[in-house]
Parts: sequence; C-alpha cells; structure tokens
Amino acid sequence: MELTGRVAVLTGAGHGIGAAMARRFGAAGARGIVVSDLDGAAAEEVAESINHAGGRAVGLRVDAAAKDDLRALVELAVERYGGLDVFCSNAGIAYGVGVYAEDERWQHSFALNVLQHVHAAQVALPTMLRARNGYLVITASSAGLLTLPGDAPYSVTKHAAVALAEWLALTYHTRGIKVSALCPLGVRTPFLFDGVDAGHPAAAAVLAMGPLIEPEDVAEAVVSAMAEERLLILPHPSAGETYARKAASPDEWIRETLAALPNGKG
Ligand SMILES: NC(=O)c1ccc[n+]([C@@H]2O[C@H](COP(=O)([O-])OP(=O)(O)OC[C@H]3O[C@@H](n4cnc5c(N)ncnc54)[C@H](O)[C@@H]3O)[C@@H](O)[C@H]2O)c1
Repeated sequence: MELTGRVAVLTGAGHGIGAAMARRFGAAGARGIVVSDLDGAAAEEVAESINHAGGRAVGLRVDAAAKDDLRALVELAVERYGGLDVFCSNAGIAYGVGVYAEDERWQHSFALNVLQHVHAAQVALPTMLRARNGYLVITASSAGLLTLPGDAPYSVTKHAAVALAEWLALTYHTRGIKVSALCPLGVRTPFLFDGVDAGHPAAAAVLAMGPLIEPEDVAEAVVSAMAEERLLILPHPSAGETYARKAASPDEWIRETLAALPNGKG
C-alpha cells in the first residue's frame, strides 16, 4: 500500500518511532493523520509539524491501553478525514525486569504490548472490512523474534504481538487486510536510553546486539515494507539473519546469544 491519499492513525506517536512514522506518512502525502500519545502535548506538536509541512494531521492525548480511547481514534479519523486505511498500534512498554517482576508489571506489559493490538484490530477492522482495504501495522520488536535477555515481560509480550500479526494476516488476507509486524533492534529513542541510564541489562544487551539506528530510518523501512506489503518489517537486516539461524538451530542460537552478551550471561 502506498501512503498517498490514505488516512492513518498512530498510537505512541508523540516521540520516537511513532513520531517519525507520522511525519513520514505526512511527507508521503497521506490525506489525514491522527497522531495520538499519552503525552497529548507531544502528539499535538507532531501534528502541528506535519501541518506546517503541508500535510493534514490532528494530535490528541490517548491511552493506548484503553479500548474506548482506540475506538475514539477510529471515529475521529472517519469523521474528520472520511475513512481509515492504516492503524499503527505503536505504543509499548519495557520495564527491564526478569520473571519475578510484579504481577502489575506483567499485566501492564500484556495490556499495552499485546491487548492494545487486539483492541486496535477489533475497532479498526469493521471500517476496513467494509472498504475491503486496510493495513494494520503492529509495532513489536526484534525481541518478539529473538528474545531479549534481561527483560522477560517484554520478550514474552512482543512474541505475542508477532503471533497476533501472523494470525491476523492469515485470517484476513483474502478480505483486503494487510498486516505487518515492525521488529527493530536498537533505535535511538528515549525508550532505549532511559533503560541504558537506569542500568537495565536488557538495554545493555540491545546495545550489544547490533548497531543503533534513528527513528527516521525505521519510518523509511516501514513505508517501503508497506509498499511491498511485507509481514515482517526488519529495519536491521541482521535481526532477520539471526532469526533464520535461530529457526535452523535453536540451541546454537542460545549459545550464540549468551556469547554476545556484555557479561557473557543472561
Ligand atoms: N527504541 C528501541 O530500541 C525499540 C526497539 C524495538 C521496538 N521498539 C518499540 O517501538 C515502540 C515505540 O518506542 P520508541 O522507541 O519510539 O519509544 P519512545 O519512548 O521514543 O516513544 C514511545 C511513546 O509512547 C508513548 N506511550 C507510552 N505509553 C503509552 C500509552 N499507554 N498510550 C499511549 N502512548 C503511550 C510515550 O509517551 C512515547 O511518546 C514501542 O512499542 C517499543 O517497544 C523500540
């Protein structure tokens, strides 16, 4: 799908990868962009920058973990721009914690990193299916393919996000619905550097796993993958190569991953 003339909704788009995607969609000639974030002021700023550059966007505060908020985004897109072509559920959370994380952290990880995408599909699909056309872009992570040492809830929930993308693609492909799971390794955003600053082993592992790229690089990869309607968006090609080695030999992949860690253990 080309973005020209399309209507897109994004969550977690006040900063980082989501903001870069929203701006890139604007540059590609999207007809309308609904930019949302828990940080409403940041979402409004991103929308303003798109409008300033000649696009059409609106920014607002939304909690992506709340289904009613997601439904309101779809309604706004339809009301203001006359339809909905693309829903990017992008907000995510990482605590940098192991299996003994408090239940509240496991539950919030599931709410934002998994159920958000389920709810986005539930609220977006009726409009998309009526048009027999639509695109669901789920921001997962390479941690959804490869597992991130040091962060159990993040690895588990991002795997679930990839599984959901696969399930949606299989189920709705013949009805005009496209699905992609975005799976970057390290991207230079506050999300990663807050973890680095806090000394989380998971953030250190990300730094050890491959080169950092900019949010704008990720946005570019998203637009070209959407043009080809590819299921997996891998802005770091090395993640795809490691994923193939993992499929060929999971035990060898465990040894390889442990050897690459900064302190040589998980
Ligand atoms: N940065 C990386 O290295 C990296 C790598 C792989 C995947 N990701 C994924 O990319 C996505 C975006 O992360 P980023 O790196 O751009 O982070 P970021 O911190 O730059 O931006 C995330 C945005 O999400 C917003 N947000 C947080 N909770 C929210 C909620 N409940 N509702 C709505 N908005 C909320 C934040 O306010 C922030 O603006 C996440 O899903 C993350 O897991 C990031």
